[in-house]
Amino acid sequence: MIGIRPLTAADAPALAGLYRENREHLRAWEPDEPDDFYTPEGQRAAVETTLRESRSGRLLAWLIVDGDRPLGRVNLNHITMGPLRAGEIGLWVDQGHVGRGVASRSLRSVLGIAFDELGLHRLTAFVRTDNLASQHLFERIGFRRFGLSDGHVYVNGRWRDAIGYQCLAPWHDDVLLSPEF
Ligand SMILES: CC(C)(COP(=O)(O)OP(=O)(O)OC[C@H]1O[C@@H](n2cnc3c(N)ncnc32)[C@H](O)[C@@H]1OP(=O)(O)O)[C@@H](O)C(=O)NCCC(=O)NCCS
Repeated sequence: MIGIRPLTAADAPALAGLYRENREHLRAWEPDEPDDFYTPEGQRAAVETTLRESRSGRLLAWLIVDGDRPLGRVNLNHITMGPLRAGEIGLWVDQGHVGRGVASRSLRSVLGIAFDELGLHRLTAFVRTDNLASQHLFERIGFRRFGLSDGHVYVNGRWRDAIGYQCLAPWHDDVLLSPEF
């Protein structure tokens, strides 16, 4: 059964293997990391940093899984409450499992948590102008383009432009600060 579950410290060794297998797949899209990042020790440190930020409320991190098997990662980053109530999505899926709806299903779960449980009002995602699969993905699950971010991120040797996508909460009525559950 494909789904998402919260990332835990115990996921570090499996995640190191998954990152190693996908290093080439991700090189075009994600900032490359030092070799240490792809080891169980490196992942333990990376996961611990992520979980520390998560405890502070700044992000939520999930593992995409098929049963016990990890298939990728999805994060809700830069969570801001107050009058913004926003968060930014980042994700990737194992190269052997792309094109089968894994990301769509995972993102729908994230939207449910973000809007219905956290009461966020806006989700954003920045997608490279040359990442057609990701553009298609976000548009298909209801995100709308709101602009172009020039030189948005440094990946694979240069600054890359990205399209800004947003999705407002289903409860948005132009007046309420948060949902009336
Ligand atoms: C982008 C990514 C997360 C998509 O994951 P996925 O599990 O394959 O996504 P899904 O199968 O749910 O949906 C992908 C959609 O894009 C479509 N697609 C795939 N390649 C495409 C292309 N080159 N052009 C247009 N559409 C494309 C698929 O057909 C599918 O749409 P459909 O379900 O309507 O047929 C995955 O390819 C990935 O991890 N890429 C590398 C990292 C990355 O780009 N992360 C996102 C950064 S914003």
